[in-house]
Amino acid sequence: MKITVIGSGKVGASAALNCGLRELANEILLLDIVQGLPQGEAMDINHQLSECGSDSLARGSNNYEDMRGSDYVVLVAGVGRKPGMTRMDLLKINAGIVKDVAGKIASFAKDATVIVVTNPLDPMTYLAMKAIGSSSKQKVMGMGGMLDLSRFKSFIQEATGVSRESIQAMVISEHGENMLPLTRFSSIGGIPLHDFISKEKAAEIFEKTRKVAAEVIALKGATVYAPGNAVATMVESMARDKKTVIPVSAYLDGQYGVSDLCIGVPAVIGAGGVEKVIELKLDGAEQDVFNKGVASVREAIKALPL
Ligand code: LAC
Repeated sequence: MKITVIGSGKVGASAALNCGLRELANEILLLDIVQGLPQGEAMDINHQLSECGSDSLARGSNNYEDMRGSDYVVLVAGVGRKPGMTRMDLLKINAGIVKDVAGKIASFAKDATVIVVTNPLDPMTYLAMKAIGSSSKQKVMGMGGMLDLSRFKSFIQEATGVSRESIQAMVISEHGENMLPLTRFSSIGGIPLHDFISKEKAAEIFEKTRKVAAEVIALKGATVYAPGNAVATMVESMARDKKTVIPVSAYLDGQYGVSDLCIGVPAVIGAGGVEKVIELKLDGAEQDVFNKGVASVREAIKALPL
């Protein structure tokens, strides 16, 4: 099994390390245009994996051709947002990078399953899918909701004091300003979350989940560990054909009444990639937020260099 991570900055290195710690592949290739960066990251990661007993071997390269034979490609290349920016503010600068990198994936790893991380996540997932020209729409997805739900879980634990292990959380829609943490579809030990927290507390952690990434960026400059873990969870579900149900930015072809767009929805993630999109019965308020997310992504897609 071979995983390639394109973009060896903090998030890319974190994703590579998390995949290595879970021993998801024989080879984990880190790619970057910066000379020495992927090679140095690979060495550092290998030293940790060696002590942990993981036999995943990290390798660094500046040559895109080295991604040949990849089963999974994680596309992280691009610019991260600065304090005060929204993810959508990165649309123009990252679209060119993602289109270029997607072209390289089409040339050297056309059969790989691709996880997009670059922001704005949903439009970049759509752009990558179009630029790679994947035969199957199931083989390109975006990592957004998996990261958002990790934050939602953190706030649920803070509010309830229960073990994080007992928390199931769901976040869909745009990985951005119209993110939709779904209290109604989250639970603790199988018991609906609403039985643990008030409507006011639910509203509070809804907003905190939306805003916390910007707070982390303002404090430390970037989010690193949680994104890397989220990527590894998605790769693991595919590499081990676990078929876990997790939210990913997936191509919709009529589901939720939406076509020809990528946005966060719950899906069965297995060896076939996005094996099944799960359609939730949203209530009026949830549907309104979801619709806003769809409109935001649709507008962004219009500006893409397709
Ligand atoms: C975040 C970035 C990866 O939410 O969008 O941390």
